[in-house]
Amino acid sequence: MKAIILKEAGGVENLIIKDIPVPSPAKGEVLIKVNALSVNPVDIKTRKGMALYNSLKESEYVILGWDVSGEVVELGEGVTALEIGQEVFGMVNFPGHGKAYAEYVIAPANHLADKPDQITHQEAAASSLAALTAWQVLMQQAKVQSGERVLMHAAAGGVGHFGVQIAKYLGAYVIGTGSDVNYDFVKELGADEYVDYTSEQFEEVIQNIDIVFDAVGGDNPKRSLNSLRSGGLLIAIAGGITDEVKKLAEEKGIKALSYMVQSNGDDMEQLAELLEAGTIKPYIFKEFSFSEIGEAHRQIETGRTRGKIVINI
Ligand SMILES: NC(=O)c1ccc[n+]([C@@H]2O[C@H](COP(=O)([O-])OP(=O)(O)OC[C@H]3O[C@@H](n4cnc5c(N)ncnc54)[C@H](OP(=O)(O)O)[C@@H]3O)[C@@H](O)[C@H]2O)c1
Repeated sequence: MKAIILKEAGGVENLIIKDIPVPSPAKGEVLIKVNALSVNPVDIKTRKGMALYNSLKESEYVILGWDVSGEVVELGEGVTALEIGQEVFGMVNFPGHGKAYAEYVIAPANHLADKPDQITHQEAAASSLAALTAWQVLMQQAKVQSGERVLMHAAAGGVGHFGVQIAKYLGAYVIGTGSDVNYDFVKELGADEYVDYTSEQFEEVIQNIDIVFDAVGGDNPKRSLNSLRSGGLLIAIAGGITDEVKKLAEEKGIKALSYMVQSNGDDMEQLAELLEAGTIKPYIFKEFSFSEIGEAHRQIETGRTRGKIVINI
């Protein structure tokens, strides 16, 4: 099979298409023939030697990627929940070695969900890591309640565009941040308000927030403390919470935590139900072919992608 190997940490020229043997599923795993996969910022960070690179670099082949959608073609021992021919999608083995940039991918059966017939493989792949992050943060970490005020930073991005939709589904009042070009997009996702960070400082215009979901990083978590009410919650997924932010948050009676998404098939099933019902919809900004992986990485690196990037196999 063809796979995209990361030769060593560095630029996109280190992503090389190579023929390697099709892997065999072990106990509890399945082999998926991949139709589409999606690219996330963690792929780019890992390619550059950051994020998960150190934990993957000793493998025979470092293969990036975690989001897949395709068809089950082989079952490992003991797998009864899935069957051959079934269309599945999910985030595979995160934060381990997902090896999704390949024609065939091995996945633990309990990281996957049945792909709804109503959505394409491209849409399903796009609704894996980013959607799961938004789901786990809003549903499980923040336990968003109806009527709560949620500030979603980077509301037009991969995570953010699902975050807006999921927070609305949970009954929240949602304020998104992004640049002027994404105003209409984020409002159409259901956001009640939008702050254009190129013309306004969000912390000067947005107050009394119950939950900040930060997918930007940098000084955004610190600045967000000024928008939160005492007793509010800050969850940062990009870069985490520094000691300084933690201390300032404590002084203000705000809980601040960082979060990393985990593979989970039960959560994927819940997302599949929302996708099937049309309650949440992925937005695919651009599709690339397998050999255009470098361009896909460069697109994510702009930091300006709307929704998701998909690779067709
Ligand atoms: N910890 C975890 O488990 C986890 C999981 C998923 C992602 N992440 C991290 O979270 C971050 C976001 O991921 P993603 O997939 O959503 O990335 P993405 O799709 O590349 O995000 C791009 C979006 O960010 C927006 N943006 C850029 N700067 C902004 C700013 N200062 N304020 C508001 N919006 C801004 C852009 O909107 P404009 O074009 O309008 O500027 C664009 O739509 C990445 O660092 C990623 O690694 C962490």
